[in-house]
Amino acid sequence: MVNLNNFSLFGNPVSHSLSPIIHKIFSKQINIKYFYNTILTPKNCLKIFLKDFFKEKYNLGANVTLPYKKKIIKYIDVLTKRAKISGSVNTLKKIENNFLLGDNTDGIGILDDLKRLNFLKKKNNILIIGAGGASYGIVPNLISKNNKVYIYNRTFYRAKILSEKFNNFGNLFCLKKNEIKNYNFNLIINATSSGVFNKIPDIPKSIISKSSYCYDLYFQKNGKSTPFLKWCKKYGSIYFKDGIGMLVSQAAHSCFLWHKKFPNVEKTIIELKKKIEI
Ligand code: ATR
Repeated sequence: MVNLNNFSLFGNPVSHSLSPIIHKIFSKQINIKYFYNTILTPKNCLKIFLKDFFKEKYNLGANVTLPYKKKIIKYIDVLTKRAKISGSVNTLKKIENNFLLGDNTDGIGILDDLKRLNFLKKKNNILIIGAGGASYGIVPNLISKNNKVYIYNRTFYRAKILSEKFNNFGNLFCLKKNEIKNYNFNLIINATSSGVFNKIPDIPKSIISKSSYCYDLYFQKNGKSTPFLKWCKKYGSIYFKDGIGMLVSQAAHSCFLWHKKFPNVEKTIIELKKKIEI
């Protein structure tokens, strides 16, 4: 048996994950052979599963997904600055003395993807819908002196907690539902889990126009449009994209952390789509 370096995804559920396919494509591209598999991690087993995994010599890194991105922090020895800021971790790497490094590549993943798509202008008015884990991962990267970021969430107090956490980073505000229509947004990001339930967040259709760029963190595995993007298109948006590019971008940053080689995101997206679309 060949001893290949091994990487895993811890989460629950994990069977739907595209990460094993993405890393197979990366492995070929960067010409470094490695395994990547998923580990279904039951509640209360995260600590022991991690310990068992990382004691093996060839197990060098991992990704972490829902519902463990925040919970995992207490088991990590060293956090990168961006993991500390977002308060959540999606990438692990075994470092000297078997210590575990925790990183977060979600924020840089969405930023890269919005740039790749040309969805960011010099100055942006961004509406982020949702105040769950996904929003915590991306908000710090979207705040800058040229961007105003507005959070709207169905449950207002969660939007308020989120905006207070990152308030000192720059222009970040939270909105109540009746306030949304008073603003013009050039970029609208759906960071809710509504798509999972085949639903769309309840926002006024008047904020959508042909100049609004709409981005859904969610995507359908069969490549079909998400409920939110269908809705944006219906009400006039002509620029709309799902989160598959973000998924590949955040994985590319994990790959770089582990192998010091950065894969080609654009080519990977094309290859991935060919593999999954029916
Ligand atoms: P996680 O942190 O794991 O991403 P979460 O904390 O349950 O998941 O957050 C999911 C987000 O999607 C929340 O912002 C949630 O809104 P609430 O805070 O009001 O629950 C949002 N969400 C889920 N389904 C939604 C729906 N049908 N319409 C609008 N927002 C929805």
